[in-house]
Amino acid sequence: MFRVTRRYEFAASHRLHVAQLSEEENRRLYGKCNNPYGHGHNYVVEVSTRGPVDRATGRAVDTALLDEMVARQVLDRFEHRNLNAEVEAFERVVPTSENLGVEICRSLKAHWKQTFPGEWPKLEKVRIAETPRNIFEIRADEIE
Ligand code: NI
Repeated sequence: MFRVTRRYEFAASHRLHVAQLSEEENRRLYGKCNNPYGHGHNYVVEVSTRGPVDRATGRAVDTALLDEMVARQVLDRFEHRNLNAEVEAFERVVPTSENLGVEICRSLKAHWKQTFPGEWPKLEKVRIAETPRNIFEIRADEIE
């Protein structure tokens, strides 16, 4: 069994702000990430898959198929966007990297069978580096 990880990058901006909380509570909670005009990140997303090596191809995952799905479900949706204002999933959900990770993992899971109809490969986890020091990881079997 192999684990194959593919790395992607996109730039996007966001503001951490909860509408139900006061300005002061938001500032206390999120500090400079609550700046009204937002700020950007160069997100690095790693998608890990798991599967046996295919006898015919010698590979555990067709990375071209994975790239195509990630382009459609992640990069096209988030690249150069303001996550709060331009991405429907974050209309009422704070675009923290935790929530971004959940959204990416959920959307890859939802489209997985279309791209990989066989038993393998499976989606194992999604990892997001918001900065080199802030890394967020979610396992596909931990979300519904
Ligand atoms: Ni931020």
